[in-house]
Amino acid sequence: MKPKSLVNIGDYNRTDILRILDNAAQFKANPNRNLLEHRVCATLFFEPSTRTRLSFETAVNRLRGRIIGFSDAATSSSSKGESLKDTIMMAANYADIVVMRHHLEGSARYASEISPVPIVNAGDGANQHPTQTLLDMFSIYETQGTLENLTITIVGDLKYGRAVHSLIEGMADFRPTFNFVAPDELKIPEKYKSFCDEKGIAYREFTEFSPEAINSADILYMTRVQRERFTDLMEYEKVKNIYILHNDMLKNSKPTLRVLHPLPRVKEINQDVDDNPKAYYFQQAKNGMFVRQAVICDLLEIEVNEVTEVKKLRKE
Ligand code: CP
Repeated sequence: MKPKSLVNIGDYNRTDILRILDNAAQFKANPNRNLLEHRVCATLFFEPSTRTRLSFETAVNRLRGRIIGFSDAATSSSSKGESLKDTIMMAANYADIVVMRHHLEGSARYASEISPVPIVNAGDGANQHPTQTLLDMFSIYETQGTLENLTITIVGDLKYGRAVHSLIEGMADFRPTFNFVAPDELKIPEKYKSFCDEKGIAYREFTEFSPEAINSADILYMTRVQRERFTDLMEYEKVKNIYILHNDMLKNSKPTLRVLHPLPRVKEINQDVDDNPKAYYFQQAKNGMFVRQAVICDLLEIEVNEVTEVKKLRKE
């Protein structure tokens, strides 16, 4: 039987998501445990990363597991022409679970179909970044006390932003309202609008980063314009600084608003926002470690039995 993998956030239903968030809360209370003793995790990063790779590796280290892998494909035999299939089969020979980031959309799905061990998609091109969504949802719950009926304003690169695409799908069962703020060149793709329509999710599209889009929001989710996805860098230059959040733009926002960003940021959040209590992106990134501990244990079917922190979630 094929092992369970996490490739798209849609692989996890509402119950699965709440289980992960509940377990992540337990890890946040106590991140250092022996749960992965004698287990090996491979991290294969064909694309650059700071947070995702380091938080996965810290997650494993804090659970006493071991890490193998590469952070630069140029140091692996894929630079000699080895196929993705062979690379995955080799990693699965040595490790109990494989975390991979690759520029090709669908690469993680393909890997999950051939791998004898679980695959975790740490980002496949502009497609999906499901563990980012789980840490986003953890941070949303942590700051709002609920996942239900929230207005989420998503700003920036809605075309190529894989964190955006996963977030829309991940929140789908929690009755969100979305404000999509993007220039015409980076509009939310039709397939995600159709997804919202099918799920009965309300959304509005804006081309201006207007006070209405900010002040109606519970969560302001800023994103970077994804330079690496543009084939024409002149097109990137036109839109790269189109929306920049400054501290004074938050003055009429809800007191409970929190600003999230999957990071890295370039210029889209001015540093004067960092000291505003509504800024939550650094705490959000830290939550990635706890959520990834929960994901790895879930896929390896390792019980996480401690006092539960967010049982309330299950009742919503
Ligand atoms: N959010 C995120 O995926 O960051 P990295 O690219 O640094 O891993």
